[in-house]
Amino acid sequence: MFTLLLGVTSFNAYAQGDARRGEYLAKAGGCLACHTEEKKDASPYAGGRALKTPFGTFYGPNITPHPQAGIGRWTETDFVRAMRQGVRPDGAHYFPAFPYTSFTGIVDSDLRDLWAFLRTLAPNAQASRNHELPFPFGWRFPLGVWKALFFTPGPYTHDTKLTPAANRGAYLVQALGHCGECHTPRNILGGAKQDRYLAGGKGPEGKNVPNLTPARLKKWGDGELKDFLVTGIYADGDVPAKAMGEVISNTTSQLTPEDLAAMIAYLRTLPPLPEAPR
Ligand code: HEC
Ligand code: HEC
Repeated sequence: MFTLLLGVTSFNAYAQGDARRGEYLAKAGGCLACHTEEKKDASPYAGGRALKTPFGTFYGPNITPHPQAGIGRWTETDFVRAMRQGVRPDGAHYFPAFPYTSFTGIVDSDLRDLWAFLRTLAPNAQASRNHELPFPFGWRFPLGVWKALFFTPGPYTHDTKLTPAANRGAYLVQALGHCGECHTPRNILGGAKQDRYLAGGKGPEGKNVPNLTPARLKKWGDGELKDFLVTGIYADGDVPAKAMGEVISNTTSQLTPEDLAAMIAYLRTLPPLPEAPR
């Protein structure tokens, strides 16, 4: 019995992630957009994408397996800690421009698959750019206080009130899809207002982002929502702002029909929150 248990533990410890599943999860997580420079022929995942926020400009770093320029010297444990806890291998805190506040919800097996996928990327020697943050936002140590206030680490747990499909959708929306990073309003310290989850307001770039709760989306049929999230075109022929256009091309249009339907099923279960007064 004892040896059997030991056998099981060591099997888990050495279980390899599935890189093909990881590639799909990377799409669901939109990793490419923030970790690839915005230019033609940019090397995927080699970093350099500028992310403008009210706190300054962040640059997504190189996350290819290059030993110096990327994360080639990392262990899987380093990766899990970065995604789940928002902590660098040397113990410093990450800025929440890296949406670990959402990614913390990614379950262990999916983290392992994501890691396996990142290991298959071609190592790229492009150095990560330093963030351009005005004083005092460039300091990492106050982030410990910020995290104590606004960050709840831990994987997504099944919500017994939801159907299996809506649970899958909740996981995709809350954790991997990090829809709340733009669709949930923030307080002046940049913390998400959880009582206004997905209710819209000022997005990370200071522009208005729509409400995704049924108070607004009840006007859309499931088919209309699905078409929008696949084609990136509104029913009236208009195209959405670039921030959402990228989410559609990199993430929602890449999901299986089941996962997309699950996301929509979950959005339907949200409490209908009215638009915030302007
Ligand atoms: C909204 C933009 C954004 C998205 C989406 C995003 N990242 Fe990042 N990521 C960042 C930024 C910015 C940093 C740097 C944070 C810092 O310096 O504190 C970062 C840092 C990282 C790091 C640490 C790199 C290092 O050198 O320390 C890893 C690993 C990482 N991201 C993996 C991922 C994975 C995997 C995904 C998809 C599941 C992802 N990221 C999606 C913006 C993003
Ligand atoms: C990087 C920021 C960002 C992220 C992340 C994001 N969105 Fe959006 N979303 C926007 C913006 C901005 C708009 C408004 C586009 C416009 O008005 O042109 C929008 C619009 C939408 C709309 C249209 C709503 C309406 O009534 O007009 C839907 C539906 C939507 N997003 C769903 C999602 C889902 C689902 C996710 C997660 C997978 C997500 N969004 C993630 C920024 C974002």
